[in-house]
Amino acid sequence: MEVSEILIHCLFTILIYSSLHGVTALKLKTIYCTISESCECDFQPDIQGLEWDLYKNLYGQHIAQDIVSEAVVSFLQKESPDVPLVLSFHGASGTGKTLVSSMLGRRLFGAAMSSPYIHQFIPTLHFPLLDHVKEYRSVLKQWVEGNLTACARSIFIFDEMERMPPGVMDVLVPFLGPSHVVFQTNYRKAIYIFISTAGEKIINKLAMETRQAGKEREDIQLWDLESSLKQDVFNKNNSGFFQSRIISENLIAHFVPFLPLNRRHVERCAQRDLCQRGECQRRDVVEAVGNAMTYTPKDGQLFSSTGCKSVPAKVNLFL
Ligand SMILES: Nc1ncnc2c1ncn2[C@@H]1O[C@H](COP(=O)(O)OP(=O)(O)OP(=O)(O)O)[C@@H](O)[C@H]1O
Ligand SMILES: [Mg+2]
Repeated sequence: MEVSEILIHCLFTILIYSSLHGVTALKLKTIYCTISESCECDFQPDIQGLEWDLYKNLYGQHIAQDIVSEAVVSFLQKESPDVPLVLSFHGASGTGKTLVSSMLGRRLFGAAMSSPYIHQFIPTLHFPLLDHVKEYRSVLKQWVEGNLTACARSIFIFDEMERMPPGVMDVLVPFLGPSHVVFQTNYRKAIYIFISTAGEKIINKLAMETRQAGKEREDIQLWDLESSLKQDVFNKNNSGFFQSRIISENLIAHFVPFLPLNRRHVERCAQRDLCQRGECQRRDVVEAVGNAMTYTPKDGQLFSSTGCKSVPAKVNLFL
């Protein structure tokens, strides 16, 4: 046994002893996790459950289903990943981006989104002021560092990236790449999810053109969209990644497009909502909700303009 291994072993013993006696266990656990590469917090990945969620409870997102499930499975298979898993979700409002991030949280930590190792950032709440970039950068760096120290398997979710002041995110570059060493190799076990509506025009345009060409939206492939999404977020100053090194240094593994939903998907959302209320048989309400939504374009009525977002409100109205 090497000296460091003995040290880790001793700390682990103290940790167990102190948790039995209710003494500063969290602090000791933090120290243990800082020097040990095997600290997994209460990480309990349920891959089958995640796939079930993605393929049964997420409607009309064939690209997101495949990419997210493949990326997570191959990442978790590696004992010592070379880089953390970094995904960026893009698409219109109400298409399931936040839903997928919650599925990931729930299925990887088995504790809904309330796990202390799942960290959600919302710019309007945490980074509201455009002229506080320097301060936000330093807070964010310390926050991520501190959380990685407590748990190498932390999940960081940055929602509504389109509202993130430009320049804040680059402070994460050292944590996202392969070479920089922070806390031994522990930082490479983390998962980062960025979510934004940036790129929605590109995705919706392709979905529209595909339908107008008489093809199915399921014919759209990731490579039809990935490089244009990447360019778009790099060039737009309201994407959170304007001219960001995170993009130019290719630190995002996948740009995951969420396609616009059509009436069939909206009705499935309504049906699910009704079943949750014990009203599965109310086909009339499902149809009324489908009729009440707004679809674009005006002359084609192909896609729901709010995805599934306003479905529960509409169900309330017709039930
Ligand atoms: N593809 C989908 N399959 C199943 N349910 C969906 C889907 N898209 C959205 N929903 C439902 O609609 C609601 C809103 O979805 P969600 O919060 O994931 O949207 P979003 O893409 O994050 O939108 P926004 O950009 O406005 O935050 C959720 O309750 C979710 O269950
Ligand atoms: Mg959302």
